[in-house]
Amino acid sequence: MTHLVKLKSIQERTDQYLLNKLNSLAINDDTLHQAMRYGLLMGGKRMRPYLAHITGECLGVQADDIDGIAAALECIHAYSLLHDDLPAMDDDDLRRGQPTCHKAFDEASAILAGDSLQTLAFDILANHEFSEQVASKRITLIQLLVKASGYQGMCGGQALDLSATNQSISLEQLEQIHALKTGALLEASILMAAECAQDIMPQEKQALATYAQRVGLAYQVRDDIIDITSSEEELGKPAGSDINANKSTYPALLGLQGAQQKADDLYQQALQALTTLPYNTQNLSEFATFIIQRTS
Ligand code: IPE
Ligand code: IPE
Ligand code: MG
Ligand code: MG
Ligand code: MG
Repeated sequence: MTHLVKLKSIQERTDQYLLNKLNSLAINDDTLHQAMRYGLLMGGKRMRPYLAHITGECLGVQADDIDGIAAALECIHAYSLLHDDLPAMDDDDLRRGQPTCHKAFDEASAILAGDSLQTLAFDILANHEFSEQVASKRITLIQLLVKASGYQGMCGGQALDLSATNQSISLEQLEQIHALKTGALLEASILMAAECAQDIMPQEKQALATYAQRVGLAYQVRDDIIDITSSEEELGKPAGSDINANKSTYPALLGLQGAQQKADDLYQQALQALTTLPYNTQNLSEFATFIIQRTS
């Protein structure tokens, strides 16, 4: 399957799972339910589910097991975007080509939908019907997602991102922000899938973690570049948002060329990490290529 066909099939699979999950919830508040649906199902590239599925496939993990992991990752990601766009954070009005959740609904609904999607992620991990072998890893999977999402991961990175706004910071500090706010969840997409593999060696897990860190960081470096170089139409979110908000980004610190060089270096390091693995890693190397070339 070509990369794009495969991506589409994983997008559809993930969306179906998420739709079923949302439909299975008893509706207490119709507006909140609609806001959750809006945040979760109105588009999105589904990169984290894709990464989890291709990692699982490479390591011989059943796709049915990865479904629960992929859906949980996407719930955390969707919640992070609902909150990221709020006036108190990036204050953006457009996401995935549509008004942001707090514009389509209101701020309280966007906050609560984010909160509910966050707990939905852990509902999924706690209740997904994993195979017997993977069910024994349930607590470890929850631990990995907690670390990637919370204070030690995405939320911590978002806080550092906000405090670095209107400030000049070092490259080292910027790398830490990127690695936490975006890298951690992409890394978890790989580590959680790897956790389900039966006979994986510690050094193989380590090589996958290195790949994941480089690709995770490159994802946000590229996000900062396309914020400048792509149009609002292409992005489905406002172009130039980082410059307008005086954000600390790679292009702001190194210039566009320097930022692209950084993305290229990370790409090479990611590919290098894959060479040590005794599996078919073609999908993972194509994913890295896709990341550093993406324009939306
Ligand atoms: C955007 O994420 C925010 C970042 C973490 C860089 P994506 O580019 O994965 O957004 P969607 O889910 O495809 O809309
Ligand atoms: C997003 O970073 C990080 C998270 C949502 C965790 P950005 O603020 O750069 O993402 P976009 O550009 O709004 O999608
Ligand atoms: Mg932000
Ligand atoms: Mg933002
Ligand atoms: Mg951005």
